Amino acid sequence: MTTPEERAEAAAAAGYNTFLLRSEDVYIDLLTDSGTNAMSDRQWAALMLGDEAYAGSRNFYEFEAAVRETYGYQHVVPTHQGRGAEHLISQIAIRPGQFVPANMYFTTTREHQERAGGVFVDVIIDEAHDPVSEHPFKGDVDLEKLESLIAREGAGQIAYVSLAGTVNMAGGQPVSMGCVRAVRALCDVYGILLFLDATRMVENAFFIQEREAGYADKTIAEILKEFCSYTDGAWMSAKKDSLVNIGGWLALNDPQLFDEARNLVVVFEGLHTYGGLAGRDMAAMAVGIAESVQEDHIRARIGQVRYLGELLDAAGIPFVKPVGGHAIFLDARRFYSHLAQDKFPAQTLAAELYLDSGVRSMERGIVSAGRDPQTGEHNRPRLELTRLTIPRRVYTQAHMDIVAEAVEALYAGRDSAKGLVMTYEPRYLRFFQARFDRPGG
Ligand SMILES: Cc1ncc(COP(=O)(O)O)c(C=O)c1O
Repeated sequence: MTTPEERAEAAAAAGYNTFLLRSEDVYIDLLTDSGTNAMSDRQWAALMLGDEAYAGSRNFYEFEAAVRETYGYQHVVPTHQGRGAEHLISQIAIRPGQFVPANMYFTTTREHQERAGGVFVDVIIDEAHDPVSEHPFKGDVDLEKLESLIAREGAGQIAYVSLAGTVNMAGGQPVSMGCVRAVRALCDVYGILLFLDATRMVENAFFIQEREAGYADKTIAEILKEFCSYTDGAWMSAKKDSLVNIGGWLALNDPQLFDEARNLVVVFEGLHTYGGLAGRDMAAMAVGIAESVQEDHIRARIGQVRYLGELLDAAGIPFVKPVGGHAIFLDARRFYSHLAQDKFPAQTLAAELYLDSGVRSMERGIVSAGRDPQTGEHNRPRLELTRLTIPRRVYTQAHMDIVAEAVEALYAGRDSAKGLVMTYEPRYLRFFQARFDRPGG
């Protein structure tokens, strides 16, 4: 715990950006669920069995078998984390000027797609941009938006369809099995590839089991594998669902694309049997993949996120509904209804929450959305959110009680917030390193 004076100093030194705080100055850390999970005793035991051979590590084959078994893809390339895999797939599958339709953007994913010359197009359903819509599958693709893009640009101009489950920027919202089946059918008609961001696909499978007709009696593992079977490959940040501190992969069914990825990985990540990871990291990932699809684990994980949601709901705090898989996304537009988007309400909320309580959260609004590469203007997302992200197997319900109390206290004094002014804007993925001034200090 820190004093208000210590936090004022730490926040100012960090330019009111929670990414720039030192973790020792944080009380409860809800910045992200990425790499912040607690590994199990089995994962720690696996670490001790690391085979650190440069080539052909035993742990690579364990990891490869785990991905094949759990996700069902044929060929696997390890990467140091998700964006390493995003880089590879973007370089391999996008020709400059091609379009990449997606169910909303994700920061690093779109950055790599645009760096490869792709033009990102959002084809998610409109409900996804509406924080109060209770649609059960707000991650679904709007097939009409997708078809009209294909009709306008021609199938040859579509690099691939980029589908994410769950959709992080929409509030951890799931995609239905009905949707992925329909997108697959459409892709087959036009000969377009369909790739999946599988980062939180286990959580997505939980929502399908709970909400979609015909899936209540299927296991999470069965649902996950069926979903993946409709796609041509996937990239993965194993730092989320797979319960590790570092790791990722790219999986592909097409042998030719795999050949290219396997070749390119040696340029950017490392040999194709370690891809930027230690042998022990791959060993922990193999165990984590198996643990991630255990029914009790996933129920407890999402149950904890919902617990926090129920507390906040009872206090009348505005946040994205329904509650998603990995986080509560506070609706900063309604929280600070007196602040214009140019005052960075979600960034302000993250800064004020830290100052008030030592709880660390993260902006997911106009700062994260960056600028349009063509016009240079701010992208202005309808969703202006502050994410309270719950790491897996780390915190107790008592921690959630404290977080809810902190948010409630902040809400009570919300009128005094004055917003922030951006004083430093980095060129790429600005939300990580941007700095701000807080009028009045
Ligand atoms: C949906 C999604 N895709 C991709 C990534 C990128 O993964 P990484 O942070 O491991 O590079 C993330 C990480 O936050 C994510 O949430």
